Amino acid sequence: MFDINKILRPNIKKLVPYSSARDEFKGEASVYLDANENAFGSPLDTAYNRYPDPLQYKVKKRLSEIKGVPPRNIFLGNGSDEAIDVLFRSFCNPGVDNVILVPPTYGMYEVSANINDIETRKVLLTEDYQLNLEGIAEAIDEHTKMIFICSPNNPTGNSINREDVETLLTNFKGLVVVDEAYINFSRQKTFIQELTEYANLVVLQTLSKAWGLAGLRVGMAFASEEIIEVLNKVKPPYNVNEASQQLALEALGNIETVNNWIKETLTQRDKLVLQLKNFDFVLDIYPSDANFILVKTTGAKDIYNHLVQQGIIIRDRSKVELCEGCLRITIGTPAENELLINALKIINEPEKSTFY
Ligand SMILES: Cc1ncc(COP(=O)(O)O)c(C=O)c1O
Repeated sequence: MFDINKILRPNIKKLVPYSSARDEFKGEASVYLDANENAFGSPLDTAYNRYPDPLQYKVKKRLSEIKGVPPRNIFLGNGSDEAIDVLFRSFCNPGVDNVILVPPTYGMYEVSANINDIETRKVLLTEDYQLNLEGIAEAIDEHTKMIFICSPNNPTGNSINREDVETLLTNFKGLVVVDEAYINFSRQKTFIQELTEYANLVVLQTLSKAWGLAGLRVGMAFASEEIIEVLNKVKPPYNVNEASQQLALEALGNIETVNNWIKETLTQRDKLVLQLKNFDFVLDIYPSDANFILVKTTGAKDIYNHLVQQGIIIRDRSKVELCEGCLRITIGTPAENELLINALKIINEPEKSTFY
């Protein structure tokens, strides 16, 4: 049985969180002289002189309607990167504990672990980019606090087999963090509905991808009430600013636009895959459940440099283990994708280029 008290850091268990002015008085009043704000306003058209709601209730209420999860099971962060960091700070003792990572995967898990002085135990994905469950079981010891699974996975694009994640959730005594940053593009079901089933599940999502709000920095963690309470205790008091809260709330009222973009992205993804298959330098294109594709090529660095010269930036992942020769390409607008294909055509027709 999962027991949060067995994995919490002792100092966090005892932590008395900062109590902000906005925590101490929650009602409506006519005069606020409690938070040392500037009572005159802001030198802007919109007033931001008041501190934001520390627990972002309005945004969570709207998210709760969309996701079918009560607000008490939602944590909001300054991007899901902040949720990752707060998880480390809440559950992992620096210099003592470890986490399991399954590369190739999203790089921030390792960076966050390193910042927090937490050992990372890496168990490579299999050749088909799935979990090596035996390897993971061998790597776990009594100091293993979290396992990070990214599904759909960045940079490979595929979803991780659901039954394998369920095996981990059932057998691991620490937290299984399922990062669903790209779930809106996926054919797979979210794990959010499993929160009542697994007390050790944390699902990460973000408004940075399908929702088109990367600049606002709003990320989400969904988990049991007791896990969310810990994360709220550890986070900085005003971690999601007022402008982001207001704009996120407004954007969350516009699901239709986002759904149309998702459909268009998937159409564009299929089209791009077909076009890329025609190039001699493309060896393989991995199946994607995300808004990017991983493409194995005969010469990733040269192709990358050629595209940079044309003003087109993609991601060279060829130095990443299991991604040798690979480029990661985000799906753009139809016009951007066409520019990409045209730029690549110059490579494929040697007489037009000095590429080879
Ligand atoms: C798998 C994954 N998780 C999380 C993030 C970061 O999301 P956010 O912008 O919410 O911090 C990214 C960004 O690239 C990502 O690829």
